[in-house]
Amino acid sequence: MNVLITPLGTADVDSVAALARRIWQQTYLGIISQAQIDFMLEQRYHRQRLLDELTMPDLWWDQLHVDGQLAGFSSCLRIAGGKEMKLDKIYVDPGRQRLGLGARLIEHAAGRALALGCCTLILAVNKRNQAAIAAYRKHGFAVRESVCVDIGQGFVMDDFIMARSLLMHTAES
Ligand SMILES: CC(C)(COP(=O)(O)OP(=O)(O)OC[C@H]1O[C@@H](n2cnc3c(N)ncnc32)[C@H](O)[C@@H]1OP(=O)(O)O)[C@@H](O)C(=O)NCCC(=O)NCCS
Repeated sequence: MNVLITPLGTADVDSVAALARRIWQQTYLGIISQAQIDFMLEQRYHRQRLLDELTMPDLWWDQLHVDGQLAGFSSCLRIAGGKEMKLDKIYVDPGRQRLGLGARLIEHAAGRALALGCCTLILAVNKRNQAAIAAYRKHGFAVRESVCVDIGQGFVMDDFIMARSLLMHTAES
């Protein structure tokens, strides 16, 4: 399995949005409503939003290919005055989950965060997304807080914020 992680380019935006749509349908139906899935996909993955994000200085998009085929993506952004990196998105093709690809994207983000002097990698995950929570625990994250954020149109994001200390990880490795 030849795994390659590269920065997302403007020409890749449509294929990543299409993969996101496929993964979201598979992951979130049963966790949130179809209306919320559609609302959040439109909010987060519309073409111009992705193109704008590619120009932001403190935000990074990565794509992961397996044997030349798009199999996942992630994005992260620097927050808290540069002390923390938020893994804002991490998604692996349903046909390729549980093969260590999520771990590769997490380590890639952790490496970038460390290089930029961040102490912590954080993320938000739906409280009912048990598979993802298991993956994050396995890869060194622990729940830091519980939040419920109003995202408009009557929808909320009922999430755990999970964090992994990069300093501790460095000391142990
Ligand atoms: C969460 C996700 C990014 C993890 O990536 P991955 O490549 O599947 O995970 P890894 O192979 O690195 O790690 C595997 C671990 O993740 C957890 N895991 C992943 N998929 C799982 C599933 N379907 N059921 C149970 N546990 C699962 C397990 O802890 C697993 O370890 P195990 O196989 O030893 O039990 C990926 O599964 C995914 O994209 N899921 C759907 C979208 C999603 O929920 N994204 C996160 C949004 S916050």
